[in-house]
Amino acid sequence: MASLTVRQLDEKLKQRLRLRAAKNGRSVEDEVRTILRSAAADAESFAGGGGPARSVPSEQPQKAAIRVLLIIGGGIAAYKSLDLIRRLQDGGARVRCVLTRAAQHFVTPLAAGALAGQRAYTDLFDSQSEFDIGHIRLARDTDLIVIAPATADLIAKMANGHADDLATAALLATDKPVLLAPAMNPHMWTAKATQRNLMQLKADGVRVIGPNAGEMAERGEAGIGRMAEPLEIAAAAIAMLHGSSALAGRRVLVTSGPTSEPLDPVRVLANRSSGKQGHAIAAAAAAAGADVVLISGPVKLADPPGVTVMPIETAQQMLAAVEKALPADVAIFAAAVADWRPRQVSANKIKKHGRPPTIALIENPDILSTIAHKKSGRPRLVIGFAAETADVIGNAKAKLKKKGCDWVLANDVSPATGIMGGDRNTVHLVTATDVESWPPQSKDDVARTLIERVALALADNKP
Ligand code: CTP
Repeated sequence: MASLTVRQLDEKLKQRLRLRAAKNGRSVEDEVRTILRSAAADAESFAGGGGPARSVPSEQPQKAAIRVLLIIGGGIAAYKSLDLIRRLQDGGARVRCVLTRAAQHFVTPLAAGALAGQRAYTDLFDSQSEFDIGHIRLARDTDLIVIAPATADLIAKMANGHADDLATAALLATDKPVLLAPAMNPHMWTAKATQRNLMQLKADGVRVIGPNAGEMAERGEAGIGRMAEPLEIAAAAIAMLHGSSALAGRRVLVTSGPTSEPLDPVRVLANRSSGKQGHAIAAAAAAAGADVVLISGPVKLADPPGVTVMPIETAQQMLAAVEKALPADVAIFAAAVADWRPRQVSANKIKKHGRPPTIALIENPDILSTIAHKKSGRPRLVIGFAAETADVIGNAKAKLKKKGCDWVLANDVSPATGIMGGDRNTVHLVTATDVESWPPQSKDDVARTLIERVALALADNKP
């Protein structure tokens, strides 16, 4: 009999399998076995006449599915929401859809309902819908509400508490978590009013995913405004519901902050890293249930809750602490390690003697590269950062190769970006096969997105 291994499948399919497996708490191999068993059963019942089309989720009827209310807004990205229904189902969700009036110009309630396996709702004043379920139950008989695409208009209405149609009425009435996937023209996205509304929604506890950068539907338009991919939205949705356990039983090591290299008892060579991104990653990993060790240079930040912190000053101390903290499943190197240190550290304060002294430097160990090249005890996933001021992606790709890590998060740290020391970050996730540009977002959101990705990647070989 011909044999096929998971490795031979294409990348997209593997990613879908990982997502499914992660959400069902199975290894990818077990997930494949379950799918095959279920397909065989479906085929048998189909042969017997009148088998089910696609039960939701067909392979585990004994387990209560999570319930997602998907609100589809009126934008061209609405066609991707049909795919999102499937991705959410793959993650173990039962999906119920609401389409705004504008959404119905792009997709039909019939298509959404057929994919979801139950009727799609459209009208606040439809007596049939109100009799069936009513907008209050629609808002509450769910575990999560996902809005995709969330248009500028829908965002504005939400931020201001409007309730003049079924979607906004349900959103105002809900007591459940809400995930928003905006999609709009880049000018509408950067408009002050949109950003103001988003700030309000975030302050109200709404989680936002995307939009991503890229080509727009309008010919010749590009920028930030594309809806996040259905797989990303589904991963974020599932993580929101299972967030506290996605990394349970995993050990995650994070480096953060600057290193400080002494020259004499009072002077150091240091850099401007605040440690905000590394600390946010450690906090997000701990929130996802991981056992986290944070090795940090001197920063003015509180220790993240639930994290073991190992404070260090120099690059050599950081390497020693990292070695001591191993083994780990994942190692994320967010520290801005000083590349060089003074060759000699003066025991006494260096005094002025006419001419300024010449300071000889020697190279520090490369911690990321040392760990990534380990022959034994290498963490399964080694992730570096690339702080660049020019050719961000090109340099990040080169770093990925040279340092031997699995992923690099590249960011532009030119002073104009305000990233060094600021609260926001714009990163590109560079892997051996792909470059994904994430939208500008808070360092907390970057951390959360990264940890969701890490959980998905680890699920591939879950013991
Ligand atoms: N890094 C490290 N040890 C070092 C230098 C860097 O672990 N001695 C890690 C950082 O934590 C980061 C990645 O390597 O994850 C890239 O750091 P970056 O400063 O962007 O690159 P460098 O290796 O220092 O190269 P260059 O300064 O030439 O860009």
